[in-house]
Amino acid sequence: MTGPDFDYFCQLIRNRSGLVLTPEKAYLVSSRLTPVARAEGLSGVPELLAKLRANPVDSLVTRCVEAMATHESFFFRDGGPFEQLANQVLPELIEARKSVKSLRILCAACSSGQEPYSIAMLLQEMSARMPGWRLEILATDMSEAILRKARSGLYSDFEVRRGLTEERLKRWFTPEGACWRVSPTLQQIVTFRSHNLLHGSAGLGGFDIIFCRNVLIYFDVDQKRRVLGELRRVLTDDGYLFLGSAETVIGVSNAFELSPGARGLYRPSGAQPLSRTA
Ligand SMILES: C[S@@+](CC[C@H](N)C(=O)[O-])C[C@H]1O[C@@H](n2cnc3c(N)ncnc32)[C@H](O)[C@@H]1O
Repeated sequence: MTGPDFDYFCQLIRNRSGLVLTPEKAYLVSSRLTPVARAEGLSGVPELLAKLRANPVDSLVTRCVEAMATHESFFFRDGGPFEQLANQVLPELIEARKSVKSLRILCAACSSGQEPYSIAMLLQEMSARMPGWRLEILATDMSEAILRKARSGLYSDFEVRRGLTEERLKRWFTPEGACWRVSPTLQQIVTFRSHNLLHGSAGLGGFDIIFCRNVLIYFDVDQKRRVLGELRRVLTDDGYLFLGSAETVIGVSNAFELSPGARGLYRPSGAQPLSRTA
């Protein structure tokens, strides 16, 4: 699939979501848009692309952008970042924030919610060290459809078996039909909000910790740099940024530097190390 309609579509997706599509990704466009074309009563993807170019109605554009996004996620994805959070980052910040008794965490591009609920489990499991604290996780994504699933807190048996121990499943979920419902204790500290990373982060407030994992991988270098710059603006000087295992700031942005000895964990450039308390 090539030609002006395809080129127009690639540019449209890039502007709306940051996702970079190239002619080699034509198979992906074709497989992801076929259901959209069918739902529109069109003969196929070429007709859908022509229709979009002739008349890019917002609702159809949104459906196509959502269809092109990858929502893959699972609980405690990659393991390591959650160990760093529990063993290093939270103990340090609990000490640093002991007078204000408040922690605010951004989980950007949170998809169907497994990542913010995993963070919420760790916070609750360490809550004896934070009595009376205000704990808040703001979980954002550009896709309204995936946020509806995240807010519901309802997961299939397959989804909860990916990353949750039996102990955590029993402690934090209750069976509901063939599915599992996340505990209200976790839901009450997670707020889901629609937000596009390309639109800046200023309206989100300030954060002590930011998770932004497995989304920058789809962006080009300029967009990565812009998003990282925005995230730096809303992260406290002694805060931490978690990126995905295939993502880095190296060669992209000077706003952050690798936290010594930690993969995927970044601090604002020039930040002073906090004293270890764990
Ligand atoms: C692969 S999932 C990552 C989920 C989770 N962070 C994880 O690592 O398991 C990528 C998510 O990024 C979202 N996304 C893509 N482009 C975005 C943008 N420009 N702004 C906000 N979210 C975006 C998609 O909707 C999708 O849910």
